[in-house]
Amino acid sequence: MDDNYKIRKFREEDLEKVVLINRLCLPENYSSSFFLDLHKNYPEIFIVAEHNNEVVGYVMGRVEVGFSDFHKFKIARKGHIVSIAVLPEHRMKGIGTALMLQALKNMVLHYNCQETYLEVRVSNEKAINLYKKLGYKEVRRIPLYYLDGEDASVMSQELKLEEIQKQTLNHQ
Ligand code: COA
Repeated sequence: MDDNYKIRKFREEDLEKVVLINRLCLPENYSSSFFLDLHKNYPEIFIVAEHNNEVVGYVMGRVEVGFSDFHKFKIARKGHIVSIAVLPEHRMKGIGTALMLQALKNMVLHYNCQETYLEVRVSNEKAINLYKKLGYKEVRRIPLYYLDGEDASVMSQELKLEEIQKQTLNHQ
């Protein structure tokens, strides 16, 4: 990721650009209030990437409490990645990785999460590669999860701050 890119927290004035990036990049689109609600409740894991002061990518998530994917019958705080996208002309430059690493770090530091998970279309190889690189593994599939009938792969990992910091250093 070159010096013209910057990773920072979402601000309300970014809303229009983030909504646009979401519409351009993904079939799963949301109302403005959905974005704002996530920001209100989990501001530390709503992150954007800027290129020359223009927002070019975002990641957002929420925190949930539920059964651990790794320890039987244990309850865990889980950081759920709800959506991530980078504009096509800015892809393959490490932006997606940088957005994810910042969100994962903040899940631990600000929300005390022990695990993180997400859903991804089984055909979305690029995103699956990104998540695998970060340590996520498929834990189950959800048939017909998406409106067009595609299955979701649920990918999950335990959060380890030291590991995230190591990956962040290697990514700089
Ligand atoms: N083909 C194969 N793997 C790819 C890829 C491609 N075209 N683009 C990214 N990846 C994988 C690689 O493993 C890559 O690591 P590497 O560079 O060491 O090989 C890794 O992702 C990280 O790439 P990075 O440059 O950090 O990601 P990005 O900025 O290109 O963003 C997405 C990745 C998925 C966010 C981006 O492709 C995107 O916005 N896609 C459309 C929206 C989407 O599918 N979101 C996910 C929904 S679950």
